Amino acid sequence: MECEVYIVKILSIESSCDETAAAVTENGRTVLSSQVLSQADMHAIYGGVVPEIASRNHIMVISRLAQAALDEAGITKKDIDAIAVTYAPGLIGALLVGVNFAKGAAMAMGVPLIPVHHVRGHIAANYIAFPELEPPFVCLAISGGNTAIVDVRGYTDMSIIGSTHDDAAGECFDKAARVLGLPYPGGLPLQRLAEGGDDSAFALPHGKIQGHPYDMSFSGLKTAVVNIVHNAQQKGEELDRAGLAASFQRAVSETLVPRTMAAAEELGYDTVVVAGGVAANTRIRADFERACSESGRRLFVPPLRLCGDNAAMIGCQGYYEYLAGASAGMELNAYANMDIDHVVF
Ligand code: KG4
Repeated sequence: MECEVYIVKILSIESSCDETAAAVTENGRTVLSSQVLSQADMHAIYGGVVPEIASRNHIMVISRLAQAALDEAGITKKDIDAIAVTYAPGLIGALLVGVNFAKGAAMAMGVPLIPVHHVRGHIAANYIAFPELEPPFVCLAISGGNTAIVDVRGYTDMSIIGSTHDDAAGECFDKAARVLGLPYPGGLPLQRLAEGGDDSAFALPHGKIQGHPYDMSFSGLKTAVVNIVHNAQQKGEELDRAGLAASFQRAVSETLVPRTMAAAEELGYDTVVVAGGVAANTRIRADFERACSESGRRLFVPPLRLCGDNAAMIGCQGYYEYLAGASAGMELNAYANMDIDHVVF
């Protein structure tokens, strides 16, 4: 007797910051389409994301982007089994656009609505890239708005064991880049400036939190970079910009990598995963490769296209939430902040 394999096609929506994205995934890990429209150019002249501009632009493109995702997948609305949407955390106005679009689509199409936590989505980007990856593992999620060490016990069972007490790592990259005169978003330009720079040119702080070994702080590092740049400007001295960028990257990496490795050790996991926009950073990737090879652990870091915000990762995580029975009604709201382990449905 042949066993019927049930296929779940999910249309997913992501609008938590300055990328509008829609995708179609099949049984989580197979991406049939992925449309991402970045607004970064529109925010660049302001040196950072302007929430109102982000919300307005999401509204203007979201319907067309969802249709483009269906077209790219070669299917129609009738083929969709569920809608997944990022409902938290992020910019509240931006999130509301995606949530309201998803609610309307789910109601019109008569399919379940699955709320997805944005950081859970970033972690799931790795399931798309690496078919062999399964929980449990420790994941460092590093993006523009979040920096957390996550104990991923199962696809929908996870908790944060360490996080930043102030700025996120990506935010710190963006602020350091801005004071160095680099464009927004500053992570990649700063990485390029650091190439060839001496990473011991400047001694920079590595924000420790007393009594919380897995927590961290980036505001002191950010202030140190700002002070060094302003000091040089006031004295009319030439600044070793490449050296400062390289020293900055080193300080960020030396804050993130040892804490993640110590968490893996304590939890007894042989697998380390990195996720989020800052996971694209070559220095952090290289330091993780070294640390994992020295300790005999497997390392998974997504390819660049899956590091930044996208909807395929939301569809992938949405599938596991769907299997776990998560589904929301028309009362679903968006939240600027939300614990990764908070179950509201
Ligand atoms: O995951 P993401 O696209 O959006 C959020 O969910 O926040 O991450 C964006 C962040 C920005 O702060 C950007 O500067 C940073 O990722 N980023 C990088 C690199 N590429 C992007 N940071 C360091 N090095 C990079 N190569």
